[in-house]
Amino acid sequence: MCLIKIENLVKEYDKNTAVKGLSFEINKGEVFGLLGPNGAGKSTTISMLSGLLKPTEGKILIDGKDTLKYPMLAKNAIGLVPQDIALYPTLTAKENLYFWGRMYNLSGKLLKERVSEVLEIANLEDRKNETIKSYSGGMKRRINIAAALLHHPQILIMDEPTVGIDPQSRNHILESVKKLNSEGMTIIYTSHYMEEIEYLCTRIGIVDHGKLIAIGEKDELKKSVAKQDKIEIEISQINPHILEKAKEIYGVKSLDINDNKIIINSCGNKNILSSLLDLFSKMNAKILSIKVDEPNLESVFLNLTGRALRD
Ligand SMILES: Nc1ncnc2c1ncn2[C@@H]1O[C@H](COP(=O)(O)OP(=O)(O)O)[C@@H](O)[C@H]1O
Ligand SMILES: [Mg+2]
Repeated sequence: MCLIKIENLVKEYDKNTAVKGLSFEINKGEVFGLLGPNGAGKSTTISMLSGLLKPTEGKILIDGKDTLKYPMLAKNAIGLVPQDIALYPTLTAKENLYFWGRMYNLSGKLLKERVSEVLEIANLEDRKNETIKSYSGGMKRRINIAAALLHHPQILIMDEPTVGIDPQSRNHILESVKKLNSEGMTIIYTSHYMEEIEYLCTRIGIVDHGKLIAIGEKDELKKSVAKQDKIEIEISQINPHILEKAKEIYGVKSLDINDNKIIINSCGNKNILSSLLDLFSKMNAKILSIKVDEPNLESVFLNLTGRALRD
């Protein structure tokens, strides 16, 4: 079921157009990934979605209602975790959360309950009385996420929440996303890290230069544009005869050698691997290792734009 509908969204700044007519839908209960390189327009799109920035053109509907006409709709429905940390460094984590809670009109017993609830999600109850300036980057991120959850939003939007943090906090954040989603929250996860989007998201939109260049289920996207697998096989000895025979196998597109490894680009035909293994065993070549690189979101992006995501 469609929860958010974006129609022809445009944002012009003085000198450039950051978002050039985006239209897509986000379904209730999904983890939707917005993937794109730096400067693609992800943060600008998210700022418009959450009501912080006025679109130059276009419409945003939540549950069928126009959020540009009714701004409180977006404020109540969405919890935003901005790319830049929005916390007061000289206040403690707990004081920061009380501040943000009051911004959402929470008070009294309810506010107290919500603050301890989100501190538990961030796994930082024992550090709540320390000032934010004494926190590590990862801990600040976790409090930033906690602040966005105080008003029990229906939708959580996270803008590059793992940039520049320690692996432990990163894992904590990724697992929190999974848990919140399993409890029913719709999540929009923005990143230029394709591994995270691949791990978390079921549907993905890829943006580049302010435009949506692909959208769909993760597996469909991978299947639709990247039909090549790379296979690396390390064998005990390589001789010209083996290579000749390997080249003749149906579906092998090209073949390179690197030390004792044969690197094969194939058309994705699943029978290739067993044909290769048959051949090597017939030729008495001992197999030392095998690695198969299947298409990923990076290859999807490369295929669509001719560039790597992190160029
Ligand atoms: N406040 C602003 N004024 C002018 N240009 C901006 C502003 N914010 C972002 N931009 C430009 O808009 C484009 C998209 O930026 P942004 O939405 O931050 O991309 P992303 O989040 O995908 O890295 C970039 O070219 C950026 O330089
Ligand atoms: Mg950004």
